[in-house]
Amino acid sequence: MSSTLFRTKNIEQSIQDTEEPEHALRKSLSALDLTVFGVGVIIGTGIFVLTGTAAKNTAGPAVSLSFVVAGVVCALAALCYAEFASTVPVAGSAYTFSYASMGEFPAWIIGWDLVLELALGTAVVAVGWSGYIHSLLDNAGWHLPEALSGRDGASGFGFDILAAALVLVLTAILVLGMKLSARVTSIVVAIKVAVVLVVIIAGAFFIKGDNYDPFIPKEQAVPAGGDLKAPLIQLMFGWAPSDFGVMGIFTAASVVFFAFIGFDVVATAAEETRNPQRDVPRGILGSLIICTTLYVAVSIVVTGMQKYSKLSVDAPLADAFKATGHPWFAGLISFGAAVGLTTVCMILLLGQSRVFFAMSRDGLLPRFFSHTHPRFRTPYRPTILLGVIIAIVAGFTSLSELAELVNIGTLFAFIIVAISVIILRRSRPDLERSFRTPLVPFLPIVSVLASLWLMLNLPAETWLRFAIWMVIGLVVYFFYSRSHSRLARSGEGAVTSSQ
Ligand code: ALA
Repeated sequence: MSSTLFRTKNIEQSIQDTEEPEHALRKSLSALDLTVFGVGVIIGTGIFVLTGTAAKNTAGPAVSLSFVVAGVVCALAALCYAEFASTVPVAGSAYTFSYASMGEFPAWIIGWDLVLELALGTAVVAVGWSGYIHSLLDNAGWHLPEALSGRDGASGFGFDILAAALVLVLTAILVLGMKLSARVTSIVVAIKVAVVLVVIIAGAFFIKGDNYDPFIPKEQAVPAGGDLKAPLIQLMFGWAPSDFGVMGIFTAASVVFFAFIGFDVVATAAEETRNPQRDVPRGILGSLIICTTLYVAVSIVVTGMQKYSKLSVDAPLADAFKATGHPWFAGLISFGAAVGLTTVCMILLLGQSRVFFAMSRDGLLPRFFSHTHPRFRTPYRPTILLGVIIAIVAGFTSLSELAELVNIGTLFAFIIVAISVIILRRSRPDLERSFRTPLVPFLPIVSVLASLWLMLNLPAETWLRFAIWMVIGLVVYFFYSRSHSRLARSGEGAVTSSQ
């Protein structure tokens, strides 16, 4: 049995699969498109919303250090992703990479995990977007009925109609084709980056040195009974659950990590890139460097504008300007955030439909989902199915816990990708790698440890939810995917597993 669990998909075969006309995606993206895509999906709810939560509850002004920590973890993972994406330029990201290196079972786990990351990530961002639209509508004196405004604050039935509507509209745009979405994305990304720059430049004039004191607030014990909400690492070592202090910087890093999610999604578009070997690594690393710089600057400015304990948790960037008596800036920022979150949502949605598409093309999910649209050449079936499910989830759920679940899934994917880099270097040294991760195996090992460290800083209950999702995945794999796998049917994979 172990030989079937670890049968690998031949890399040349993976690339050839993408060229079958009925299953082929159009190759139209350049390095610039990918960088815009990356920035478009990376800057979002993380910086616009979670900065406030993390500074206020766990890190204080040292949240800027949390962004550095999370950025370093992502940079390590990005160096591994870039090698894989430049070697195996096929839709599906970490899923495809691990199918070619680790085998079918690890690939299934990672694909299942990625669907969770991207689908729930889309829902989280849609809900964040709806919050900003609500705040803009409120400014204009318009209010939606409570029952249609979402889960928080609704006394009975609460459905977030705006979040659900956003997901459905974006689903339709994606079904119509990549080119349209890439063009829309570029305009929106420009608006979003401009607004972030406004926060940094205008905000710098309102910084008060006192607000940075203390920079790392003293450790504070968490009230008893919150054990499951405490970071797993604190429970493992029997420490009393606490916020702030040096450990608070890491707890906050595991939360603001959400702000970096998306650079890995760039790799999922490899198959739709004109020159993937060269352009995918450029797109991934370029967008990550731009975003890390902006995040650290924004968090330094915002915690300097307002005392960390007074930051808002819904719209911290806009509210910091309100607190300094500049509501006009606040309105502009809310508008930019709402526009910007639209692209984040769209690209996450794109990424997850591509992972689902790749898994069904391999027979691990029903092959029905692997047919592209005869005219638009997009994977319309998984896009529509998942779009509708996500719209429902976004309508009925609230933010923060979902974001933590997304983070744990993503960090887990990082670990598998880093291990895969090492394995693939040994099993297929012959493959052409236009981008090579430096210092292998040292760097991938450090990447594994760094991702694991952030995972351990997530709440115990997040680990529990993640475990439940993965167990469901195992059941699906053993009762459906293993026997329906294309490799199982053709028998092509078992031999390569011993390489
Ligand atoms: N990084 C994206 C965000 O912060 C997912 O919204």
